[in-house]
Amino acid sequence: MSAVTRVVSSRSGLRAAYGDLPVGTLRAVVPTMGALHSGHAQLIRAARALVGEAGHVTVTIFVNPTQFAAGEDLDRYPRSLDSDVEVCAVEGADLVFAPSVETVYLDREPTISIDPGPLGTLLEGAVRPGHFRGVLTVVCKLVSLTGAGLLVLGEKDFQQLVLVRRMVRDLDLPVEVVAVPTVRADDGLALSSRNVYLSEGERRDAGSVPRALEIGVETARAGGSSRDVLAEVQAYLRDRHELELDYLVVTGPDLGPPPEIGEARLLLAARIGKVRLLDNVRLDFGLGE
Ligand code: PAJ
Repeated sequence: MSAVTRVVSSRSGLRAAYGDLPVGTLRAVVPTMGALHSGHAQLIRAARALVGEAGHVTVTIFVNPTQFAAGEDLDRYPRSLDSDVEVCAVEGADLVFAPSVETVYLDREPTISIDPGPLGTLLEGAVRPGHFRGVLTVVCKLVSLTGAGLLVLGEKDFQQLVLVRRMVRDLDLPVEVVAVPTVRADDGLALSSRNVYLSEGERRDAGSVPRALEIGVETARAGGSSRDVLAEVQAYLRDRHELELDYLVVTGPDLGPPPEIGEARLLLAARIGKVRLLDNVRLDFGLGE
């Protein structure tokens, strides 16, 4: 365990922590909203491995209000700073930045924010208007505040990952985005801070989501096209009455149209009761058996 995980909540605390580092220290940032689980832990471990022992890993813990729409779960989003800091320490993070809303937004909503463009209105963006504007704006701020050269994100939130990569490229942000594969529970369900909202029965039913994706992977592996993948997955989901499907799509790796041959992505969002589950998986078309 890293005995020296520092926790700061102010901008001056952040500056002081970086001021103590040797010039040129390679730094990574892992942005999170807290309620850390093994998926987040994997991101922190990846960050540590990327920067090496001499490098520096910052985990930010901030439930960003601007990415929640009215009526969403901002107020009841799980918060557990003490155990989060413990996870960061165990995984070898050097610094936890856990600011207040006032510290990040300086007492006001930003009047200038990042427009996610057309990709921001699809899929999650269609269901959650304004969500990606809030995400991109806060990620941009966290990159600026930390000055990190590496930004570690999970594939779990695939549209977020694509949009952040796009922002970095389109705005020439001086940071490299590194993606970490999704960490799953034993039954395949992607770990998520929001899984705590699932009742015991809903949690059992939620296993249908990774199973549906697995069917998509198997269909592509057997030589199926994107249309075959959608047909097979839809056929499986038709009998899963516990799931209400929001969307199921096959796209290219950058969320454009899927290729006939090569890497693609299967993305799914479904509701079980009041809980929305998001998941995605890589597909490879045209490889054959
Ligand atoms: P949060 O949902 O806390 O996720 C923080 C990071 O952990 C994201 O990059 C997310 O993709 C990754 N992650 C979540 N579950 C994962 C899993 N099961 N396996 C691997 N990685 C996983 O995403 C956000 O917070 C926010 O939108 C944020 C980027 C912090 C901006 O506020």
